[in-house]
Amino acid sequence: MAYRSLGEFLAALESRGDLLRVRAAVSQDLEITELTQRSVRTDGPALLFENVKGASMPVATNVLGSTRRIALALGSESIEEPAEKISRLVRLKPPAGVLGAIRDLSGTLATLETLRSLGPKRVSKGPCQEVVEEKVDLSTIPILKCWPGDAGRTITFPVVITKDPESGEQHTGIYRLQQYGPDTLGMHFQVHRVGANNYRKWSARGERMEVAAVIGCDPATVFAGLAPVPEGISNLVFAGFLRGESLELTKAVGVDLEVPAQAEIVLEGYVGPTERKVEGPFGDHTGYYSAPEPFPVFHVTRITHREKPVYLSTVTGKPPTEDAILGKAVERVFLPVVRLVLPEIVDMNLPLEGLFINVAILSIGKSYPDHPRKVMHALWGLGQMMFTRYVVVVDHDVDVHDLREVLYRVGLQADPERDIEVVQGPVDQLSISNPVPLLGAKMGIDATRKRSEDGFPRPWPEEIRMDPSVAARMEALVQGDTLLRRLGGRKGS
Ligand SMILES: Cc1cc2nc3c(=O)[nH]c(=O)nc-3n(C[C@H](O)[C@H](O)[C@H](O)COP(=O)(O)O)c2cc1C
Repeated sequence: MAYRSLGEFLAALESRGDLLRVRAAVSQDLEITELTQRSVRTDGPALLFENVKGASMPVATNVLGSTRRIALALGSESIEEPAEKISRLVRLKPPAGVLGAIRDLSGTLATLETLRSLGPKRVSKGPCQEVVEEKVDLSTIPILKCWPGDAGRTITFPVVITKDPESGEQHTGIYRLQQYGPDTLGMHFQVHRVGANNYRKWSARGERMEVAAVIGCDPATVFAGLAPVPEGISNLVFAGFLRGESLELTKAVGVDLEVPAQAEIVLEGYVGPTERKVEGPFGDHTGYYSAPEPFPVFHVTRITHREKPVYLSTVTGKPPTEDAILGKAVERVFLPVVRLVLPEIVDMNLPLEGLFINVAILSIGKSYPDHPRKVMHALWGLGQMMFTRYVVVVDHDVDVHDLREVLYRVGLQADPERDIEVVQGPVDQLSISNPVPLLGAKMGIDATRKRSEDGFPRPWPEEIRMDPSVAARMEALVQGDTLLRRLGGRKGS
């Protein structure tokens, strides 16, 4: 089931008992954050604040702060379903003979046809333009101040639409927007983002870049905006693919961009080629305040919205937070894409505590000397995975999600001199431990078992394992004896 709008999705959540209407009067400054974090940390429901002091519209938070809601947003009951859909999309099996080739070709064509049919549909007008405000006053929107040390109120969950001036392709990304004044915002796209790259191209021409910041899209479009969609695939097509139904786009009123017709609020405007203003501090994904830094200024020239819009927001901070939970879903959904480049990867864990960009644990089927190092370097060359500060590689039979098992393998099987790879390269703009911003070290740990073909000079010892027939016999004994059943099931070797 595809949700065409945020409103449809909130209604679906409510019917499942997964939405809490907050009727108590609360402030947009800090109080919504405090209640939102309580819900996120207890795997609680999405929240709809209906009585925000001084505001004319409700505020929705924690809408995608649980794996079950993210799956539902993508039209599924479990997060494995969209992962499987993507897996089918990217699966490129070598054809088995002529018949296999024909079958594969027809499968590929069918997939391409599905993708084509799920491209955006143009509509002449949409609810996002029911009201057009030519006189811009951002104070009419209940923008949150999330944390006490934030420099200002910040739009935290906008889908920012920019266009590449060379290809004319539109791109969407979630970049926060700090409010500077009644009609200006800080455009916080970090240097590695596609939005920032589009901006550099417009600036090089000495031209303004037109922007539409869309607040409160349908949930699949929000997900596509934050997901590391491979270059060459439009986020808007990807959103349609994820939800299994084309996205409706309509022309923005005053900028040459197309916007999701079913959105709640659209801020239209531009970013000038040279103007900068300090953005931050802001309570960021890291759990620290970001350093104040100059960013381009977004001049909002028009606001369009539904007659009764809902303002969608989120709160970043030390995990668990909504964005960290989304990062975990991205890990599951995009594993097939990573596997397309690195088919030797069996499984991948980007632990919540690693903030998605800091720690990656990979299990691989090792087939030649120094294979783990090849995987590390390939990962550091793969889209936003390039930011990974620590990559741990374990053997195919190690459960990467069992952190005790991973620590056991690292401590026992990695030699600090031989099995550590340290490299220099680009790091995420939010990273704090690198002495120079944007540049830093990354470390790979080869925690696989070593063999003589790896150049390991002494025999690798044999792991202790119980005789399977004894294990099976004792299992039958335990199951048939109520007293012995207290011993529980079998785990490990
Ligand atoms: C809640 C949330 C807030 C984000 N805020 C920012 C931001 O302010 N600046 C930024 O560059 N990326 C931010 N991101 C990450 C981007 O949305 C993400 O990297 C996305 O894939 C866009 O990358 P692209 O523009 O390179 O395609 C945020 C992500 C989430 C989930």
